[in-house]
Amino acid sequence: TSAQIGVTGLAVMGSNLARNFARNGYTVAVHNRSAAKTHALVEEHGHEGDFIAAETAKEFVQALERPRRLVVMVKAGGPTDAVIEEFAPLLEPGDMIIDGGNAHFADTRRREAALREQGILFVGAGISGGEEGALNGPSIMPGGPAESYDSLGPMLEKISAKAADGSPCVTHVGPDGAGHFVKMVHNGIEYADMQLIGEAYQLLRDVAGYSPAQIAEIFRTWNTGRLDSYLIEITAEVLAHVDAATGKPFVDVVVDQAEQKGTGRWTVQIALDLGVPVSGIAEAVFARSLSGHAALRDASRSLAGPKAAPLSAAEAGAFADRVEQALYASKIVSYTQGFHEIDAARGEYDWDIDLGKVASIWRGGCIIRAAFLDRIRAAYDARPDLPSLLSDETFAQEIAAAQDDWREVIVAATRQGVPTPGFAAALAYYDALRAERLPAALTQGQRDFFGAHTYRRVDREGSFHTLWGGDRSEVEA
Ligand code: 6PG
Repeated sequence: TSAQIGVTGLAVMGSNLARNFARNGYTVAVHNRSAAKTHALVEEHGHEGDFIAAETAKEFVQALERPRRLVVMVKAGGPTDAVIEEFAPLLEPGDMIIDGGNAHFADTRRREAALREQGILFVGAGISGGEEGALNGPSIMPGGPAESYDSLGPMLEKISAKAADGSPCVTHVGPDGAGHFVKMVHNGIEYADMQLIGEAYQLLRDVAGYSPAQIAEIFRTWNTGRLDSYLIEITAEVLAHVDAATGKPFVDVVVDQAEQKGTGRWTVQIALDLGVPVSGIAEAVFARSLSGHAALRDASRSLAGPKAAPLSAAEAGAFADRVEQALYASKIVSYTQGFHEIDAARGEYDWDIDLGKVASIWRGGCIIRAAFLDRIRAAYDARPDLPSLLSDETFAQEIAAAQDDWREVIVAATRQGVPTPGFAAALAYYDALRAERLPAALTQGQRDFFGAHTYRRVDREGSFHTLWGGDRSEVEA
């Protein structure tokens, strides 16, 4: 017998994905650089389905039915290129290489173009959901040639997570790097969500005076409402956890320096290139890097802060409700920014990405899965040309209702000296977008003054320059 799919790279994500295929009735060829892992997988999990253990690249390729579908689950970057170099010569036109790692979409574009020359279909597929998702149903964001989806799609649909309405959390996102691009933005939004949750936690602790255990309860309550999401759910779990060694809240014994593997940073780097303001996501990336500057933080601990008393117990409950409003409003803004970035990429790379579909496949399986995403799907389905999520009437109304509390929370944070860069950046974005006039007019005046960079007028077409060094008359540029 031959295998319908093969997985090479059997670290946790790879082996869990292989097991997921096998549990869904597919015969799965498995391969790893060191064969020990391959045999260990089959020994331990062989009873879950049909596996073919391949020791060499050649055996692996020969075990696959044609067209071959070969899933690569190795580290992004060099290791992925090495695996492609190893396997590509063994493949035939029509075969597929599916890269399930967190590759940079520019690498995916390069690899797709190179393999296309050989007639190999290269599918860069974002896979979200961590180890658990890979095993029981991830959200999958495949890009690459559309024809790859004919035979690959149904298999991915089978192993993917299902949204509450039963639809599979996978779609053909778009050509070449579109899948990895969308996965990158997913991670940027993931960073923003986590940062906003972190700010809410810090406010509940430092301004409202709640303990981690009490805050866990508050998050549990929030999770029954419009904030219902995986990240809120696990936040409650983490906050409720008590360190066995010390008896202290777990969150108090963890070093407060957040790490990152890079996808959030990429989201911001690419947004800068595309000219898309993703300020909330950027603040989340910066907050992580600030936290890691231990020496700088040590040197700054004696800097002056405000003298403000925390709230009384009687005020705390109402404040917690306000924080929920601020969190929700800020969340709408970070998703608005993330979807704007995907929208901009559609134009830049000529990708036909369906934004409603993206929201729809993020409803289950992935790290940012949330009830909220069904509302985003509905907004884009109702109006595919929606200029921004904030232009959706429902979201606009919700922010209108939340904004007073949102502002109050930022005032309280400022007064108490609790950093809330995510909340504040989100609000600034909102206020800037709705502003009748922006100081950008002044910026243009300054640019014209020092560099004759010219400006446009509100009342006439054309470019103009004022003779600042002369009689200050205006000339047409
Ligand atoms: C997912 C996650 C995953 C990511 C981790 C770690 O969708 O399953 O986004 O792909 O690698 O969350 O990311 P950082 O190490 O950058 O926080």
